[in-house]
Amino acid sequence: MKVLTVVGARPQFIKAAPVSREIRKRGTEILVHTGQHYDKSMSDVFFEELNIPVPDYHLHVGSKSHGAQTGDMLAKVEEVILREKPDCLLVYGDTNSTLAGALAAAKLHIPVAHVEAGLRSFNRRMPEEINRVLTDHVSEWLFCPTQTAVNHLKDEGITRGVHLVGDVMLDAVGYNSRLAREKSRVLEELGLNRGEYVLITLHRAENTDDPARLSAIVGAINELPLPAVLPLHPRTRDKLPKWGLSIHNPHVRLIDPVGYLDMLELEVNARKILTDSGGVQKEAFFARVPCITMRDETEWTETVELGANVLVGADREKILRAVETFEVDFSRVDPVFGDGRAAEKIVDLLAGDLSR
Ligand code: UD1
Ligand code: UDP
Repeated sequence: MKVLTVVGARPQFIKAAPVSREIRKRGTEILVHTGQHYDKSMSDVFFEELNIPVPDYHLHVGSKSHGAQTGDMLAKVEEVILREKPDCLLVYGDTNSTLAGALAAAKLHIPVAHVEAGLRSFNRRMPEEINRVLTDHVSEWLFCPTQTAVNHLKDEGITRGVHLVGDVMLDAVGYNSRLAREKSRVLEELGLNRGEYVLITLHRAENTDDPARLSAIVGAINELPLPAVLPLHPRTRDKLPKWGLSIHNPHVRLIDPVGYLDMLELEVNARKILTDSGGVQKEAFFARVPCITMRDETEWTETVELGANVLVGADREKILRAVETFEVDFSRVDPVFGDGRAAEKIVDLLAGDLSR
């Protein structure tokens, strides 16, 4: 089995780590890094901490407009596919790297495997929604984290190749949480007390690229009455001054993006998590920490239905109220993301099909 894996953005490094480990037990993996994320704190740190092998190809695509970035990746991934002739191409999630990889392979009749298939926000203004819908529709294997994802695919007429395997991010947490507890010193370094701070992440384009939304969110952050820490995504770092905004609440520690082990430690010890990230919503659920999501809808609807996550949009009042009052009784919350062995199931299925 020769698998060509395409990754490029922070959450993909984290998702790929457990699957790469399984692939390399049974076959060959050629790893391609598109270069969509390139800062050390957005890329190298994950390869080092998660022991991800050095990419066989680095495409150095960097930051560009959607079309230019996706197009550049498409052309460069195509060259790699032609040279390597893999049995299949594996992509994760919903970034421009995902779509470029999937499209390049599908056009060359290389079967595509999509991890985190079937997610939908039903908001076509999100670039991620376009990426995931198109990727699903050219994929041969659709590895779904939840039953809801399977149902979404069925609604779009996709039933062949659909497998409910659970969420690979749960595998990653399972593998790394003890390591995070042992190695991370982030709480001491930042002077944070367990259970007494809010962890914030903010990067979604629909928030950062809309000055009204970003201004409302920043307004709420500037009024937070309790300690908080915000590892700032480079997209948001660039947009704040562009819209004349700044975070100046003395309770809020603004820091550079952190590595995965520090992030797990910050999540598991947070009083609450305030985020617009997809992955962080799930990790809050795994860590049994109440999650407040600054979006109007979410792909991870189960977390909301189970009462562990609340959607507050970009509404200053709602954000502040939820930080003050939103609580979750996790003893009544069912696990919905599988058993933490998604990577093994994915590679079993791929190996089985490819050996036929
Ligand atoms: C991308 C994904 C998004 C995902 C996020 C994870 C798309 C369309 N979006 O969004 O789904 O949630 O990654 O973090 O693929 N930048 C740097 N250094 C870096 C990377 C980015 O400075 O290493 C800055 C650049 O100004 C760049 C901006 O961040 O223009 C946005 O980066 P980009 O990769 O285009 O989108 P993300 O917002 O990171
Ligand atoms: N993450 C991290 N350091 C940070 C912020 C996030 O390691 O400073 C991790 C987080 O734990 C999760 C993933 O990055 O595993 C989520 O990525 P992100 O929020 O960038 O993207 P999304 O999941 O929204 O696509």
